[in-house]
Amino acid sequence: MNLTLLTFSPTGQSKACALAVAKATKQEFALFDVTHFIQRRKSLSVEDTTLIIAIPVYGGRVPLLFAEYVKNQLTAHNCDAIVIATFGNRAVEDALVEMEDLLSAKGIPLTAAASIGCQHSYSDRVGQKRPDIEDFQLLDRLAVHLNGKRTIVHPPGNRPYRQAMPRANPPYMPALAASSETISNRQCYRVCPTGALAKQDPTLCIHCCACIQISNHELIMDNPWFVNFTKNLEATCQKRIESILYLS
Ligand SMILES: Cc1cc2nc3c(=O)[nH]c(=O)nc-3n(C[C@H](O)[C@H](O)[C@H](O)COP(=O)(O)O)c2cc1C
Repeated sequence: MNLTLLTFSPTGQSKACALAVAKATKQEFALFDVTHFIQRRKSLSVEDTTLIIAIPVYGGRVPLLFAEYVKNQLTAHNCDAIVIATFGNRAVEDALVEMEDLLSAKGIPLTAAASIGCQHSYSDRVGQKRPDIEDFQLLDRLAVHLNGKRTIVHPPGNRPYRQAMPRANPPYMPALAASSETISNRQCYRVCPTGALAKQDPTLCIHCCACIQISNHELIMDNPWFVNFTKNLEATCQKRIESILYLS
């Protein structure tokens, strides 16, 4: 079996899940991480391979930048795919069916899917300590399934999909915390999927929180809508939502 990992993973959890599955198959694999805008400049053409696609759920949908990458830059011949959608203990909603449709338009059948609970990018108090041992056990089962014979699966979700997250109006992006004078950690710039931080261009910011997570409290999101939304998430999304496998 030939495996190709394709991931968009600003805070690294989706990529870690994809790697866990690929390593558990004990097969060789190629890895294409298209999180960063420089990586997304290159198109990807694959053949005779099983794609392991791992992405976060954004607003119950596929992240727009990844959907556009698949539409415009992925070509595939004689491939199938499994999809791992990681989510921050709120909801998966239509992300898996949207991914199924994006792949179907490329002639790539979906032969397994999983929604895997992870820490929410906005708050370490939502989806805390996930993925945990139970989540990783499901990823192991996915690897076993990958090594066997598979047919098409149809994950749950609605068509038409729920409305995409509206663009922030006015646009906002992370700001320096009151206690910091400058961004000392250059990694903050490097992890930004769009270059928004380096250009100080809030219209490019996708609010993925990658820079905040590695900034060691130098950066914060102080936008009132974001602060409110996060408080609400922390109040309403504490009950564990289980990860689920969809296998043929
Ligand atoms: C802009 C944005 C929107 C999100 N929307 C959802 C959502 O609708 N449901 C949910 O459960 N988690 C949501 N999350 C949380 C992520 O799906 C979750 O933290 C994911 O594991 C992050 O993946 P990554 O580490 O690969 O970036 C959202 C995160 C961001 C940044």
